[in-house]
Amino acid sequence: MNATMDDLDRLRGELLASVDQADSPDALEQVRVTALGKKGRITALMKTLGGLDPDARRDMGQRMNAVKDEIAAALTARKSVLDDAALTARLAAERVDVTLPVRPEKPGRIHPTSQTMDEMIAIFAEMGFEVAEGPDIEDDWHNFTALNIPPEHPARQMHDTFYLPDHDGAPMVLRTHTSPVQVRTMVQQKLPIRIVAPGRTYRSDYDMTHTPMFHQIEGLVIDESTHMGHLKGCLVEFCRAYFDIDDLPLRFRPSFFPFTEPSAEVDIGCSRKGGELKLGNYGDWLEILGCGMVHPRVLEMCGIDSSRYQGFAFGMGIERPAMLKYGIPDLRTFFEADLRWLKHYGFVPLAVPSPAFGLNG
Ligand code: DAH
Repeated sequence: MNATMDDLDRLRGELLASVDQADSPDALEQVRVTALGKKGRITALMKTLGGLDPDARRDMGQRMNAVKDEIAAALTARKSVLDDAALTARLAAERVDVTLPVRPEKPGRIHPTSQTMDEMIAIFAEMGFEVAEGPDIEDDWHNFTALNIPPEHPARQMHDTFYLPDHDGAPMVLRTHTSPVQVRTMVQQKLPIRIVAPGRTYRSDYDMTHTPMFHQIEGLVIDESTHMGHLKGCLVEFCRAYFDIDDLPLRFRPSFFPFTEPSAEVDIGCSRKGGELKLGNYGDWLEILGCGMVHPRVLEMCGIDSSRYQGFAFGMGIERPAMLKYGIPDLRTFFEADLRWLKHYGFVPLAVPSPAFGLNG
């Protein structure tokens, strides 16, 4: 039997009423399926259009689409009311008791990211680097433009950036790398500069080796005489100290970054025989970081005279070296806050990891 306008109006009234009456997100989802789902009532009504003559079909079709849109809009509006109410109820019900003592019977564990960051900072501190910091919410100028990545540059797409609403007319992002701290340091600090900048970074990506939030450490040295030999020596020393392998081979492979010229990627020696990754002088290579001599244009954009000053920069992830050193297979587990994982991979505070007493002290 063909549906009439009256049938449609009745259905519209019924559905809008059940949207209004839905008192939980689950109940609302049920209404959505009943109304708009593949076997839903509007869909069923749509199927009767074929039996109408062309004029009636056009009128009825238009009206049905309008009703469909109206129901969809009502569902969206109701969903936001219910979600807000659910959040308000949760905020009222769940409280954090800040007076509770720390978990009593055992000391907590230090997260492998924190541990690795501390190890890296300690090694660079020995070489005379200071620690610098910058904000996680960064403006587009510091994250891209001042690093010689102009608007329209393809590198911007490669970063899978999380964009935020403009602030004071400036486009804002969650920083995609720690390199903007280079810019902040060069703009603010007196020369010479020798800093490392560890911190959180963000990219819209998720699989076994990518998470939307991860950590990097950046390095920057600017003075009147630092050259590529220093860059190389610094990174060779660092990698051998961090991985605790005295003869760990490093390979500097020519590469491209907009903010360095020349640029290189650094690989460390490894073996992948039998599907097992082992670091050392085995003939195979694993990429670990990016680096180069700071581009004169970047120096100039930060107000530094590039005819007098020069230096190097590098940037690397924190979790990947942690995974390599401590045998952690899946990056995503770092950020799942699973206490069993933390107990297994975490570090006992104040215990120095050593081959003699085990990595967990
Ligand atoms: N910022 C780059 C990235 O996240 C890494 C990088 C490469 C940093 C070269 C540097 C550098 O300082 O010189 O992919």
